[in-house]
Amino acid sequence: MEKKNIDWGSIGFGYIPTDYRYVANFKDGKWDEGELTTDPNVVLNECACVFQYAQTVFEGMKAYTTEDGHIVTFRPDLNAERLANSARRLEMPVFPEDRFVDAVVKTIKANEAYVPPYGSGATLYVRPYMFGSNPVIGVKPADEYQFRILTTPVGPYFKGGAKPITIRVTDFDRAAPHGTGHIKAGLNYAMSLHAIMDAHRQGYDENMYLDSATRTKVEETGGANFIFVTKDGTVVTPKSNSILPSITRRSLIYVAEHYLGLKVEEREVYLDEVKDFAECGLCGTAAVISPVGKIVDHDKEIYFPSGMEEMGPTTKKLYETLTGIQMGRIEAPEGWIKVIE
Ligand SMILES: Cc1ncc(COP(=O)(O)O)c(C=O)c1O
Repeated sequence: MEKKNIDWGSIGFGYIPTDYRYVANFKDGKWDEGELTTDPNVVLNECACVFQYAQTVFEGMKAYTTEDGHIVTFRPDLNAERLANSARRLEMPVFPEDRFVDAVVKTIKANEAYVPPYGSGATLYVRPYMFGSNPVIGVKPADEYQFRILTTPVGPYFKGGAKPITIRVTDFDRAAPHGTGHIKAGLNYAMSLHAIMDAHRQGYDENMYLDSATRTKVEETGGANFIFVTKDGTVVTPKSNSILPSITRRSLIYVAEHYLGLKVEEREVYLDEVKDFAECGLCGTAAVISPVGKIVDHDKEIYFPSGMEEMGPTTKKLYETLTGIQMGRIEAPEGWIKVIE
Protein backbone atom coordinates (compact mmCIF):
# COMPACT_ATOMS: atom_id res chain seq x y z
CA MET A 1 0.00 0.00 0.00
CA GLU A 2 1.43 3.31 -1.05
CA LYS A 3 1.58 5.96 1.66
CA LYS A 4 0.24 9.48 1.12
CA ASN A 5 2.77 12.11 0.27
CA ILE A 6 2.89 13.83 3.67
CA ASP A 7 5.98 15.22 5.41
CA TRP A 8 5.37 13.01 8.46
CA GLY A 9 8.20 14.49 10.51
CA SER A 10 6.79 18.01 10.42
CA ILE A 11 3.11 17.48 11.23
CA GLY A 12 1.74 18.77 14.51
CA PHE A 13 -1.32 17.74 16.51
CA GLY A 14 -3.95 18.98 14.08
CA TYR A 15 -6.75 17.69 11.86
CA ILE A 16 -5.78 16.34 8.47
CA PRO A 17 -8.79 14.64 6.86
CA THR A 18 -8.26 11.08 5.64
CA ASP A 19 -10.25 9.15 3.01
CA TYR A 20 -12.69 7.17 5.16
CA ARG A 21 -14.66 7.48 8.36
CA TYR A 22 -17.08 5.08 10.05
CA VAL A 23 -20.75 5.89 10.75
CA ALA A 24 -23.46 3.94 12.58
CA ASN A 25 -26.90 5.24 13.57
CA PHE A 26 -29.10 4.38 16.54
CA LYS A 27 -32.84 4.67 15.85
CA ASP A 28 -35.99 2.94 17.20
CA GLY A 29 -33.95 1.39 19.98
CA LYS A 30 -31.26 -0.26 17.86
CA TRP A 31 -27.97 0.31 16.06
CA ASP A 32 -27.89 -0.13 12.29
CA GLU A 33 -25.19 -2.12 10.45
CA GLY A 34 -22.73 0.78 10.22
CA GLU A 35 -20.51 1.58 7.24
CA LEU A 36 -17.48 3.44 5.99
CA THR A 37 -18.12 6.70 4.18
CA THR A 38 -15.99 9.30 2.40
CA ASP A 39 -18.19 12.21 3.52
CA PRO A 40 -16.56 14.16 6.36
CA ASN A 41 -19.61 16.37 6.97
CA VAL A 42 -22.38 15.74 9.47
CA VAL A 43 -25.71 17.46 8.80
CA LEU A 44 -28.00 17.68 11.80
CA ASN A 45 -31.24 19.34 12.77
CA GLU A 46 -30.79 22.76 14.43
CA CYS A 47 -32.31 21.40 17.64
CA ALA A 48 -30.20 18.20 17.88
CA CYS A 49 -29.53 17.27 21.51
CA VAL A 50 -25.78 17.54 21.00
CA PHE A 51 -26.11 21.26 20.14
CA GLN A 52 -28.52 22.14 22.91
CA TYR A 53 -27.33 19.98 25.81
CA ALA A 54 -23.85 18.81 24.74
CA GLN A 55 -24.88 15.16 24.76
CA THR A 56 -21.65 13.85 23.27
CA VAL A 57 -18.86 11.50 24.35
CA PHE A 58 -15.63 10.50 22.65
CA GLU A 59 -12.48 8.43 22.79
CA GLY A 60 -8.89 8.87 21.63
CA MET A 61 -6.47 6.17 20.54
CA LYS A 62 -3.68 5.65 18.02
CA ALA A 63 -2.57 3.34 15.23
CA TYR A 64 1.17 2.70 14.89
CA THR A 65 3.43 1.15 12.28
CA THR A 66 5.67 -1.37 14.02
CA GLU A 67 9.35 -1.93 13.33
CA ASP A 68 8.51 -4.94 11.14
CA GLY A 69 5.90 -3.02 9.13
CA HIS A 70 2.59 -4.08 10.67
CA ILE A 71 -0.14 -1.62 11.56
CA VAL A 72 -1.34 -2.07 15.12
CA THR A 73 -3.49 -0.37 17.72
CA PHE A 74 -3.07 -0.40 21.47
CA ARG A 75 -5.62 -1.90 23.90
CA PRO A 76 -8.76 -0.84 21.92
CA ASP A 77 -10.91 -2.95 24.26
CA LEU A 78 -10.20 -0.44 27.03
CA ASN A 79 -11.35 2.47 24.86
CA ALA A 80 -14.51 0.49 24.06
CA GLU A 81 -15.16 -0.02 27.75
CA ARG A 82 -14.49 3.61 28.69
CA LEU A 83 -16.74 4.91 25.88
CA ALA A 84 -19.49 2.63 27.14
CA ASN A 85 -19.06 4.06 30.67
CA SER A 86 -19.10 7.61 29.33
CA ALA A 87 -22.27 6.88 27.33
CA ARG A 88 -24.06 5.39 30.35
CA ARG A 89 -23.26 8.47 32.42
CA LEU A 90 -24.88 10.71 29.77
CA GLU A 91 -27.92 8.42 29.28
CA MET A 92 -26.79 7.36 25.80
CA PRO A 93 -27.09 3.85 24.35
CA VAL A 94 -23.86 1.85 24.45
CA PHE A 95 -22.23 1.04 21.13
CA PRO A 96 -21.46 -2.67 21.66
CA GLU A 97 -17.83 -3.11 22.76
CA ASP A 98 -16.99 -5.87 20.27
CA ARG A 99 -18.48 -3.84 17.43
CA PHE A 100 -16.43 -0.84 18.60
CA VAL A 101 -13.19 -2.79 18.20
CA ASP A 102 -14.24 -4.14 14.78
CA ALA A 103 -15.21 -0.65 13.58
CA VAL A 104 -11.88 0.79 14.77
CA VAL A 105 -9.97 -1.94 12.92
CA LYS A 106 -12.03 -1.40 9.75
CA THR A 107 -11.52 2.39 9.84
CA ILE A 108 -7.76 2.13 10.38
CA LYS A 109 -7.47 -0.43 7.59
CA ALA A 110 -9.40 1.79 5.17
CA ASN A 111 -6.99 4.66 5.98
CA GLU A 112 -3.81 2.61 5.84
CA ALA A 113 -2.19 5.11 3.48
CA TYR A 114 -2.35 7.69 6.29
CA VAL A 115 -0.74 5.57 9.00
CA PRO A 116 2.68 7.23 9.35
CA PRO A 117 5.70 4.99 8.74
CA TYR A 118 7.78 3.49 11.54
CA GLY A 119 10.34 5.91 12.93
CA SER A 120 8.64 9.04 11.56
CA GLY A 121 7.60 10.26 15.00
CA ALA A 122 4.00 10.52 13.80
CA THR A 123 1.01 8.20 14.35
CA LEU A 124 -2.59 7.93 13.17
CA TYR A 125 -4.88 9.36 15.83
CA VAL A 126 -8.26 7.61 15.98
CA ARG A 127 -11.24 9.48 17.38
CA PRO A 128 -14.44 7.46 18.01
CA TYR A 129 -17.35 9.62 19.17
CA MET A 130 -21.07 9.60 19.63
CA PHE A 131 -23.77 12.26 19.91
CA GLY A 132 -27.50 12.74 20.39
CA SER A 133 -28.78 13.59 16.91
CA ASN A 134 -32.54 14.15 16.96
CA PRO A 135 -34.27 17.41 18.00
CA VAL A 136 -34.83 17.80 21.75
CA ILE A 137 -36.06 20.97 23.41
CA GLY A 138 -37.09 19.88 26.93
CA VAL A 139 -34.05 18.82 28.98
CA LYS A 140 -33.89 15.10 28.27
CA PRO A 141 -31.71 12.64 26.37
CA ALA A 142 -32.08 12.16 22.61
CA ASP A 143 -33.79 9.08 21.11
CA GLU A 144 -31.45 8.91 18.13
CA TYR A 145 -27.67 8.82 18.09
CA GLN A 146 -24.78 8.70 15.68
CA PHE A 147 -21.52 6.89 16.39
CA ARG A 148 -18.58 7.88 14.19
CA ILE A 149 -14.87 7.23 13.96
CA LEU A 150 -12.57 9.73 12.30
CA THR A 151 -8.82 9.40 11.86
CA THR A 152 -6.09 11.98 11.37
CA PRO A 153 -2.30 11.66 11.24
CA VAL A 154 -0.65 13.52 14.14
CA GLY A 155 2.77 14.52 15.41
CA PRO A 156 3.72 15.49 18.99
CA TYR A 157 1.02 16.97 21.26
CA PHE A 158 3.32 19.54 22.84
CA LYS A 159 5.41 21.83 20.67
CA GLY A 160 9.11 21.16 21.16
CA GLY A 161 8.74 17.37 21.24
CA ALA A 162 10.45 15.79 24.24
CA LYS A 163 11.53 19.03 25.97
CA PRO A 164 10.13 19.39 29.48
CA ILE A 165 7.07 21.62 29.73
CA THR A 166 5.93 24.13 32.35
CA ILE A 167 2.55 23.86 34.00
CA ARG A 168 0.68 26.00 36.50
CA VAL A 169 -1.63 25.11 39.35
CA THR A 170 -4.99 26.50 38.29
CA ASP A 171 -7.94 27.73 40.33
CA PHE A 172 -10.37 26.44 37.67
CA ASP A 173 -11.99 22.99 37.83
CA ARG A 174 -11.52 20.70 34.82
CA ALA A 175 -14.72 18.74 34.82
CA ALA A 176 -18.09 20.41 34.44
CA PRO A 177 -20.49 18.93 37.02
CA HIS A 178 -18.95 17.04 39.93
CA GLY A 179 -18.44 13.39 39.25
CA THR A 180 -18.11 13.61 35.49
CA GLY A 181 -14.33 13.99 35.40
CA HIS A 182 -13.85 10.26 35.00
CA ILE A 183 -15.69 10.16 31.68
CA LYS A 184 -14.68 11.56 28.34
CA ALA A 185 -17.61 13.83 27.56
CA GLY A 186 -17.78 17.00 25.48
CA LEU A 187 -19.03 19.10 28.38
CA ASN A 188 -15.92 18.43 30.49
CA TYR A 189 -13.67 19.60 27.69
CA ALA A 190 -15.81 22.65 26.84
CA MET A 191 -15.47 23.69 30.49
CA SER A 192 -11.68 23.32 30.29
CA LEU A 193 -11.18 25.51 27.19
CA HIS A 194 -11.05 28.78 29.07
CA ALA A 195 -8.56 27.40 31.60
CA ILE A 196 -6.31 26.12 28.78
CA MET A 197 -6.35 29.39 26.84
CA ASP A 198 -5.79 31.35 30.03
CA ALA A 199 -2.77 29.17 30.87
CA HIS A 200 -1.34 29.64 27.37
CA ARG A 201 -1.85 33.40 27.52
CA GLN A 202 0.16 33.42 30.72
CA GLY A 203 2.96 31.36 29.17
CA TYR A 204 2.19 27.88 30.57
CA ASP A 205 1.81 24.69 28.55
CA GLU A 206 -0.90 23.13 30.72
CA ASN A 207 -2.91 23.35 33.94
CA MET A 208 -2.61 21.21 37.04
CA TYR A 209 -6.16 20.81 38.36
CA LEU A 210 -6.70 20.18 42.06
CA ASP A 211 -9.58 18.31 43.68
CA SER A 212 -12.46 20.75 43.81
CA ALA A 213 -13.64 19.80 47.32
CA THR A 214 -10.46 20.57 49.28
CA ARG A 215 -8.11 22.04 46.66
CA THR A 216 -5.17 20.25 48.28
CA LYS A 217 -4.83 17.13 46.10
CA VAL A 218 -3.38 16.75 42.61
CA GLU A 219 -5.88 15.53 40.00
CA GLU A 220 -4.72 15.76 36.38
CA THR A 221 -4.22 18.20 33.51
CA GLY A 222 -6.56 19.12 30.65
CA GLY A 223 -5.63 16.09 28.57
CA ALA A 224 -3.34 13.81 30.58
CA ASN A 225 -2.81 12.14 33.96
CA PHE A 226 0.22 12.76 36.20
CA ILE A 227 3.08 10.40 36.94
CA PHE A 228 5.64 11.33 39.59
CA VAL A 229 8.88 9.61 40.60
CA THR A 230 10.24 9.85 44.14
CA LYS A 231 13.93 10.39 44.89
CA ASP A 232 14.27 6.67 45.62
CA GLY A 233 12.71 5.65 42.30
CA THR A 234 9.12 4.81 43.27
CA VAL A 235 6.50 5.70 40.69
CA VAL A 236 3.58 7.61 42.24
CA THR A 237 0.33 8.41 40.47
CA PRO A 238 -2.75 10.18 41.85
CA LYS A 239 -5.76 8.10 42.82
CA SER A 240 -9.05 9.92 42.34
CA ASN A 241 -12.59 9.15 41.20
CA SER A 242 -12.80 12.38 39.31
CA ILE A 243 -9.88 11.99 36.90
CA LEU A 244 -10.07 10.25 33.56
CA PRO A 245 -8.89 6.64 34.00
CA SER A 246 -6.01 6.95 31.53
CA ILE A 247 -5.22 3.82 29.55
CA THR A 248 -1.63 5.03 29.19
CA ARG A 249 -1.33 5.40 32.96
CA ARG A 250 -2.80 1.96 33.62
CA SER A 251 -0.31 0.55 31.09
CA LEU A 252 2.62 2.44 32.61
CA ILE A 253 1.82 1.09 36.07
CA TYR A 254 2.06 -2.42 34.64
CA VAL A 255 5.25 -1.60 32.74
CA ALA A 256 6.86 -0.05 35.84
CA GLU A 257 6.07 -3.10 37.98
CA HIS A 258 6.50 -5.96 35.54
CA TYR A 259 9.10 -4.74 33.04
CA LEU A 260 11.20 -2.36 35.11
CA GLY A 261 10.80 -3.87 38.58
CA LEU A 262 9.84 -0.51 40.10
CA LYS A 263 7.62 0.07 43.08
CA VAL A 264 4.35 1.82 42.19
CA GLU A 265 1.99 3.70 44.48
CA GLU A 266 -1.45 4.72 43.29
CA ARG A 267 -2.59 7.04 46.07
CA GLU A 268 -3.78 10.51 46.90
CA VAL A 269 -1.04 12.99 46.09
CA TYR A 270 -1.01 16.29 47.96
CA LEU A 271 0.12 19.46 46.26
CA ASP A 272 2.34 20.09 49.28
CA GLU A 273 4.46 17.01 48.56
CA VAL A 274 5.02 17.71 44.84
CA LYS A 275 8.18 19.71 45.58
CA ASP A 276 9.80 16.55 46.99
CA PHE A 277 9.49 14.44 43.82
CA ALA A 278 12.49 13.88 41.55
CA GLU A 279 10.57 13.64 38.27
CA CYS A 280 7.16 14.54 36.90
CA GLY A 281 5.47 13.64 33.64
CA LEU A 282 2.11 13.81 31.89
CA CYS A 283 0.82 10.62 30.37
CA GLY A 284 -1.88 10.00 27.80
CA THR A 285 -2.48 8.77 24.28
CA ALA A 286 -1.71 12.22 22.86
CA ALA A 287 0.97 13.25 25.38
CA VAL A 288 2.59 9.75 25.46
CA ILE A 289 4.82 10.75 28.39
CA SER A 290 5.69 14.41 28.33
CA PRO A 291 8.21 15.43 30.97
CA VAL A 292 7.32 18.36 33.25
CA GLY A 293 10.28 20.52 34.24
CA LYS A 294 8.56 23.16 36.31
CA ILE A 295 5.28 23.70 38.15
CA VAL A 296 4.18 27.18 39.15
CA ASP A 297 1.81 27.34 42.12
CA HIS A 298 0.76 30.99 42.23
CA ASP A 299 3.81 32.72 43.77
CA LYS A 300 5.83 29.48 44.29
CA GLU A 301 7.95 27.75 41.66
CA ILE A 302 8.81 24.06 41.80
CA TYR A 303 11.72 22.87 39.66
CA PHE A 304 12.26 19.13 39.34
CA PRO A 305 15.87 17.90 39.61
CA SER A 306 15.52 16.37 36.11
CA GLY A 307 15.67 19.94 34.76
CA MET A 308 14.32 21.78 31.72
CA GLU A 309 16.40 20.06 29.05
CA GLU A 310 15.73 16.35 29.29
CA MET A 311 13.39 13.68 30.57
CA GLY A 312 14.30 12.31 33.96
CA PRO A 313 15.92 8.82 33.93
CA THR A 314 12.90 6.87 35.20
CA THR A 315 10.47 8.77 32.96
CA LYS A 316 12.76 7.94 30.06
CA LYS A 317 12.80 4.23 30.88
CA LEU A 318 9.00 4.21 31.13
CA TYR A 319 8.72 6.08 27.85
CA GLU A 320 11.10 3.78 26.03
CA THR A 321 9.47 0.61 27.31
CA LEU A 322 5.92 1.73 26.56
CA THR A 323 6.71 3.03 23.07
CA GLY A 324 8.86 -0.09 22.49
CA ILE A 325 5.80 -2.23 23.22
CA GLN A 326 3.57 -0.09 20.99
CA MET A 327 6.05 -0.09 18.08
CA GLY A 328 6.76 -3.80 18.34
CA ARG A 329 10.37 -3.59 19.58
CA ILE A 330 9.52 -5.10 22.96
CA GLU A 331 7.22 -8.04 23.53
CA ALA A 332 3.78 -6.88 24.70
CA PRO A 333 1.71 -8.39 27.49
CA GLU A 334 -1.02 -10.71 26.22
CA GLY A 335 -3.88 -8.84 24.54
CA TRP A 336 -2.33 -5.37 24.45
CA ILE A 337 -1.64 -5.17 20.73
CA LYS A 338 -4.35 -5.54 18.10
CA VAL A 339 -2.80 -6.19 14.72
CA ILE A 340 -4.74 -4.52 11.89
CA GLU A 341 -3.06 -6.37 9.05
C1 LIG B 1 -8.49 14.62 30.76
C2 LIG B 1 -7.65 13.49 30.28
N1 LIG B 1 -6.95 12.78 31.18
C3 LIG B 1 -6.18 11.75 30.79
C4 LIG B 1 -6.06 11.37 29.47
C5 LIG B 1 -5.19 10.22 29.09
O1 LIG B 1 -5.95 9.08 28.83
P1 LIG B 1 -5.43 7.94 27.85
O2 LIG B 1 -4.11 7.48 28.38
O3 LIG B 1 -6.46 6.88 27.94
O4 LIG B 1 -5.32 8.56 26.51
C6 LIG B 1 -6.76 12.07 28.51
C7 LIG B 1 -6.60 11.67 27.12
O5 LIG B 1 -7.41 11.62 26.34
C8 LIG B 1 -7.59 13.16 28.91
O6 LIG B 1 -8.28 13.85 28.01
